[in-house]
Amino acid sequence: MKGKILVTGGTGYIGSHTVVELQNVGFDVVIVDDLSNSTAAVVNQIEEITGKRPAFHQFNLQNLELLGKFFKECKGIDAVIHFAAFKAVGESVQKPMNYYRNNLVSLINLFECMENAGVNNLVFSSSCTVYGQPEHLPVTEQTPRQTAESPYGNTKIVCEDIIKDYTHANPKIQAIALRYFNPIGAHPSALIGELPNGIPNNLVPFVAQTAAGIRPQLSVFGNDYDTPDGSCIRDYINVVDLAKAHVISIGRLLDQKNESAFEFFNVGTGKGVSVLELLNAFEKATGQKVNYKIVGRRAGDIEQIYADTTKANSVLGWKSVATLEETLLSAWNWEQRIRIKG
Ligand code: UD1
Repeated sequence: MKGKILVTGGTGYIGSHTVVELQNVGFDVVIVDDLSNSTAAVVNQIEEITGKRPAFHQFNLQNLELLGKFFKECKGIDAVIHFAAFKAVGESVQKPMNYYRNNLVSLINLFECMENAGVNNLVFSSSCTVYGQPEHLPVTEQTPRQTAESPYGNTKIVCEDIIKDYTHANPKIQAIALRYFNPIGAHPSALIGELPNGIPNNLVPFVAQTAAGIRPQLSVFGNDYDTPDGSCIRDYINVVDLAKAHVISIGRLLDQKNESAFEFFNVGTGKGVSVLELLNAFEKATGQKVNYKIVGRRAGDIEQIYADTTKANSVLGWKSVATLEETLLSAWNWEQRIRIKG
């Protein structure tokens, strides 16, 4: 056993892939998840992939009493990866207080309990949303953060600030924030993947459901942006590659290789891909046609963003390896499997 890792939100999309990669290299994993956007069946799937069943506790991190009890009973945690958070941009505009309460209180409670239990290492799920629409591309970690477009985005900015202040005040606590670009795809086994609740907001689940005939048509939000083909540009990162960045970050903290109490890294491919390019790549990878139409711009969308990943490449020794085509094929395989198995 290399160490015991608490993964909050460990049955969610990125969390479940990270649990698999942690177990694959010999970490012992304990998941805490309230199942508000995932199912307990994910624990079985993780066991099927890795041959090892992670411990699982169901509760919401806003419940300080339960979290305190958990830390008292679950001894020997070496580090925490904190995924558990609400993440739907549109919903956060409708219900800002739910987002602030859940995302901020969970982190604050976690730090309080970690301190009491003497757990000093945290990896936090941040997002490229903290950069807004940057003036210069690609974005480096030095690119200034901008006022967030949504309460969801703002919770990421405020959580980063909480971590900065807390690690400053408590030198024992060490943290790494990973700023994800657009995570897509699924595990190659097709046993875990993204499970959108209702109509997907994000592009790739919507594309896969359209190809599967569940949605009649994909709306491409805008073809009048100042980009080569007029559609928005993003940096789509394979979820397994992203999961591995967490495992490396945990190793860095446990080996005390980090250079400051709070480090942050962009996690993307470094390559900008337009919506129309992604559709082409999906059709090429899967042989499936996607019925789409161009509609107006979506409120709050930025024109383009992609990462400069030099820091993650050189400091973490991490690099994305999956091609866009294989990642989109994995998303399609997952989509087909969930329709068959339900
Ligand atoms: C958003 C958030 C990001 C968050 C992610 C996951 C911002 C700026 N970004 O990313 O922080 O982590 O959601 O919830 O807050 N598109 C279509 N048709 C669709 C859906 C999407 O054309 O039906 C286009 C969008 O206009 C965009 C691209 O596809 O250009 C990607 O959209 P999406 O998957 O929703 O992710 P982001 O908005 O980039």
